[in-house]
Amino acid sequence: MTKIALLTSGGDAPGMNAAIRAIVHSCQHHQYECIGFFHGYNGLLNDEWQALTHADVGNILQFGGTILKSARCPAMCLPKGPKQAANTLRKHQIDALIVIGGDGSFRGLEALKAHWEGQIIGLPGTIDNDLAGSDNTIGFATAVTTATHAIDKIRDTANAFERVFIVEVMGRHSGHIAFNVGLATGAEAILSFENCDPADTAPQLARLISQIQVQQQHNHDSFVIVLAENLWPGGPQALKAQLAEQAGIDSAVCVLGHIQRGGSPAPEDRLLATELGLEAVNAVSRNQDRIMIGKQGSTLQAVPLSGAINDGKPVNGRWVAAHEDVLTEYLIKHSE
Ligand code: F6P
Repeated sequence: MTKIALLTSGGDAPGMNAAIRAIVHSCQHHQYECIGFFHGYNGLLNDEWQALTHADVGNILQFGGTILKSARCPAMCLPKGPKQAANTLRKHQIDALIVIGGDGSFRGLEALKAHWEGQIIGLPGTIDNDLAGSDNTIGFATAVTTATHAIDKIRDTANAFERVFIVEVMGRHSGHIAFNVGLATGAEAILSFENCDPADTAPQLARLISQIQVQQQHNHDSFVIVLAENLWPGGPQALKAQLAEQAGIDSAVCVLGHIQRGGSPAPEDRLLATELGLEAVNAVSRNQDRIMIGKQGSTLQAVPLSGAINDGKPVNGRWVAAHEDVLTEYLIKHSE
């Protein structure tokens, strides 16, 4: 009987549970055995696992987090980790390993493949949406929704005080969350990797200051800056200090942080996770290997794991341009 192992790894993402559920149901449909390893790759290193059947995945798809727990596993970057993980998979006579995670998790999967003969399949599970080969990753829609609702609330209090807010969003080193959330909330400024060079923030700061001054002097309105994490040297507090020092602008900082990773998955994420989970098991039955299952448009597709990690997925350039050229033009025009 074919035996599939499953784990969730790296930053958890809302919808991981829905993917686990779909994989387990599909395994039962195909009469495959399915076992889940706990705590990401650590479960393979420590041989920590349980058999998964229908009974284990009832009533989980509406919850964030992951019933298999998750973790980062630095040992997978060392020579010993992947070998040990391979031994555990051999011991359990696993035919295929499905990993739900982001690019670090997929790199671990590639490292493991050098020591193991079974099939490896990745499912894109990260709020960052930074994997090529799938329009969206599992968890991205929920993170954008959560951050959007949070900034709508911040906007109320910002409006009341005609205040400047710097709101930091997650995304690691990509601006998918920043741009989606910035556009969805009508942010006056979006500072992200696509439109700001962290090595030379002076032009952005000067532009920002004049835009804020226009807003405060002419429009008497709030000003929300959506800032991508890991972008501005010194982070949002440094930006706040620079606004104060260089232009006497008072601002409030809100770091949304891990709130974006939690909560009940949005329907889009539940559906994406279900489709990708079912397709991952189909891929096992087709003997596919070293692939990630993604969805582009309405088409499910298998892409090489290496491409998913290395090809890069830029933020929609039309959105970047539209925000700067059209949606905030009134601020730029006033400030010239
Ligand atoms: O990759 C998901 C993510 O939430 C990133 O957006 C963020 O940079 C990182 O993980 C945070 O990691 P940790 O939870 O380990 O602090």
